[in-house]
Amino acid sequence: MRHLLDTRSLSRDDALRILDVAEDMADTQSREVKKLPALRGRTVVNLFFEDSTRTRISFEAAAKRLSADVINFSAKGSSVSKGESLQDTAQTLQAMGADAVVIRHGASGAPRTLATSGWISAGVVNAGDGTHEHPTQALLDAFTIRKRTFGDASRGRDLAGLRVAIVGDILHSRVARSNVWLLHTLGAEVTLVAPPTLVPQDVSHWPATVTFDLDEAIAGDPHALMMLRIQLERMNAAYFPTEREYSRRWGLDARRLAALSADSMVMHPGPMNRGLEISAEAADSARSTVLDQVANGVSVRMAALYLLLAGSGPDAAQNVTEED
Ligand code: CP
Repeated sequence: MRHLLDTRSLSRDDALRILDVAEDMADTQSREVKKLPALRGRTVVNLFFEDSTRTRISFEAAAKRLSADVINFSAKGSSVSKGESLQDTAQTLQAMGADAVVIRHGASGAPRTLATSGWISAGVVNAGDGTHEHPTQALLDAFTIRKRTFGDASRGRDLAGLRVAIVGDILHSRVARSNVWLLHTLGAEVTLVAPPTLVPQDVSHWPATVTFDLDEAIAGDPHALMMLRIQLERMNAAYFPTEREYSRRWGLDARRLAALSADSMVMHPGPMNRGLEISAEAADSARSTVLDQVANGVSVRMAALYLLLAGSGPDAAQNVTEED
């Protein structure tokens, strides 16, 4: 694997390879082996042009657990505010020895530009670009669904036959887009639930069904109900229902939580708007996978960096050896 830019073009084999290597990474961490030597001498640059808590910190933790050196770059407080371009910023960091660049950017397509422009030779990982994709989020979501559903028998399995409902601000969500493509590739059935004004115009080309009715989606007995953050900062008041209306019709409240079947899981990529798209009761319930998703994010990002920088062959997972 040279870059990880999206899930739309990720093959089933490559997706399963990442998930299986992530299982190996999770195993080492559960045995309190915090550090592996796999990326010793390599440098990972976290290049963040937008705010992040989970993604930036978990990429940093993942790289450090693989013994890589990490350089954290945040556009705030950098020479980007003086007008420095993406090309010059990236080339400056490459000159400091970057082997991989993890990039979050407000412009859809920025990671692909970095990967294909010839500006840098480092591998590129998309950590979220505009409203386009957030592939490692979808991979950690798939990992979480697989682990909750199949437990220790997860390795090598896809998600065939599982039903996943993705609820909320689909229009602005790179998480939704990456999940739709990956879940489809892994065989899951995807239903999108949103107010009509928050459904993208091109949704008929996506491998998913659409409903405006959350209660109908819950009656369909989803294995996973994935609540999305309402991106109020991108919202035009003309097409957003009031928060009260949104919460009443599309929020996961106590009544809807109780209507889910016993083994349905409640997911959210974070950050959450508690009381808007998800109630505190749902977010903190035993069904909630929110903190599992965060923990699994480290394992999945370790796998992505490992496959990018240390090997991509079918035996890659067996090459993960513990620090002595
Ligand atoms: N889920 C997610 O991308 O969270 P952050 O914005 O905190 O990285």
